[in-house]
Amino acid sequence: MSNINWTDDLNIGIESIDEQHRHIVSLFNELNDAHIHGEINVANKLLTELIEFKVFHCAHEEDLLKQSGFPLYKMHKLSHELIINQCLVLHQRAENGEYVVKEAVPFLRATLVSHIKGEDADYAIYVRQSQRSGQKEGRGWFSSLKRLFR
Ligand SMILES: [Fe+2]
Ligand SMILES: [Fe+2]
Repeated sequence: MSNINWTDDLNIGIESIDEQHRHIVSLFNELNDAHIHGEINVANKLLTELIEFKVFHCAHEEDLLKQSGFPLYKMHKLSHELIINQCLVLHQRAENGEYVVKEAVPFLRATLVSHIKGEDADYAIYVRQSQRSGQKEGRGWFSSLKRLFR
């Protein structure tokens, strides 16, 4: 399986998210390389690292969507849960001594690219707008107080 080349259409225009997506893609490429070269121990470690980082990333994204009042928050969270649940099943099988990287690689590759270009790109415009209007209002105690009563 080929590596994922980071192309501009993978950027969604939110710095913290793009940075995390780039990290996930680079972990994926390392995992794929280790698998291709038969480095089983390295691949197993990278799979764990990648899954842990994906769990962190999905939680970060969900916080961001919630704070921004994204209307499709629940659907996005569900989409994460479906991916993370499958990752956790793979992780559990790996913990039980099975080499699952061969099937994890195509699954991770497909879900990574389609989720970033699909669901993540879909919330980006909404969140960017919400961040811009938040900046205009300022971040002082008064605007924080106003947000509480919205
Ligand atoms: Fe997402
Ligand atoms: Fe994401």
